[in-house]
Amino acid sequence: MSVSKDSIAIEIKDLKKHFKEVKAVDGVSLKIKKGELFSILGPNGAGKTTLVRMLTTVLTPTAGDANVNGHSILSGKNEIVKKIGVCPQVITIYDVLRAEENVEFVAAMHGMPRKEAKEKTRKLLEDFGIAGRKDWSKNFSGGMQRRLNLTMALIFEPEILFLDEPTAGLDPQARRLVWDFIRDLKNKDITIILMTHDMVEADSLSDHVAIIDHGKIIAQGTPTELKERYGSDNALEISFLEQDDLEVVKSNIKNISFVANWSEILRKDRKTLLIAFKGGLKNLVKLLQQGFINNIDEVENMKFRQNSLEDVFLNLTGRRLRD
Ligand SMILES: Nc1ncnc2c1ncn2[C@@H]1O[C@H](COP(=O)(O)OP(=O)(O)OP(=O)(O)O)[C@@H](O)[C@H]1O
Ligand SMILES: [Mg+2]
Repeated sequence: MSVSKDSIAIEIKDLKKHFKEVKAVDGVSLKIKKGELFSILGPNGAGKTTLVRMLTTVLTPTAGDANVNGHSILSGKNEIVKKIGVCPQVITIYDVLRAEENVEFVAAMHGMPRKEAKEKTRKLLEDFGIAGRKDWSKNFSGGMQRRLNLTMALIFEPEILFLDEPTAGLDPQARRLVWDFIRDLKNKDITIILMTHDMVEADSLSDHVAIIDHGKIIAQGTPTELKERYGSDNALEISFLEQDDLEVVKSNIKNISFVANWSEILRKDRKTLLIAFKGGLKNLVKLLQQGFINNIDEVENMKFRQNSLEDVFLNLTGRRLRD
């Protein structure tokens, strides 16, 4: 059956979880479409894990409800857990089992026939680059344990997958491997809910991002929409060898429509120009073509800082995402 693009996988309705005076989740409402990768981006303590634990029926809400795959989290626990995969923030593996035994154990809990479980396990471990390890999983590196944990969440082909900080503690190489794998999953029509405080991760993987802070959603949209609506301008800082060269470029760029008007800020030495501009990398290329191409020999140094979800968070809250 092909699923209509716009059908809803999860609808969260004014969901709350209070731990005494701590309002961990404080009235979250969201709609997550089938087949999309929806990230919930927020700093430490924002309420991401608490939200996942309610949606996966581990934790009972203080108020509100959510519909997951057609069932209420208040009354449909048994139906929901059959269709979801969860990769928790804290790695949860049996460390005196081998990799494939861990995965096969989860398959058995879901009642998957042994032969099928063995085949699927082998294939998944290969995909994740951890096939062939025969020792106990407690000897695995953190990155390998994380990948094993992901495999365990995927063995029974869930319709909805919850990933709570799936790349926390991984080195850049392992992080990229997990990202590639998540991108592959997107092509298989699995709905993915990704909790992260990593803005690069959210930006590069998500169809939609909701930003959470102090238990509330403070903005949502596609990464591009968020950056356009709440982000900052891109900034290009150029140091010239001579002040005259700077003056030439300044007059060249004066009439470019996407250059912000506050951009003619000169540094003390009067040889450094900061240009703020809107739009993506295409505009950077245009800017270089129109403003510099004849003066490039006179440029001593150039720095480029692109508008990011970090800026979005900073502009919305006055704080940085990671402190
Ligand atoms: N069982 C609990 N009892 C009391 N307070 C809790 C409990 N679980 C979470 N909290 C509090 O709720 C708030 C949200 O925590 P949560 O773990 O959901 O945040 P998070 O966004 O997942 O953070 P992180 O990025 O650090 O994983 C925090 O202030 C936390 O201390
Ligand atoms: Mg968390």
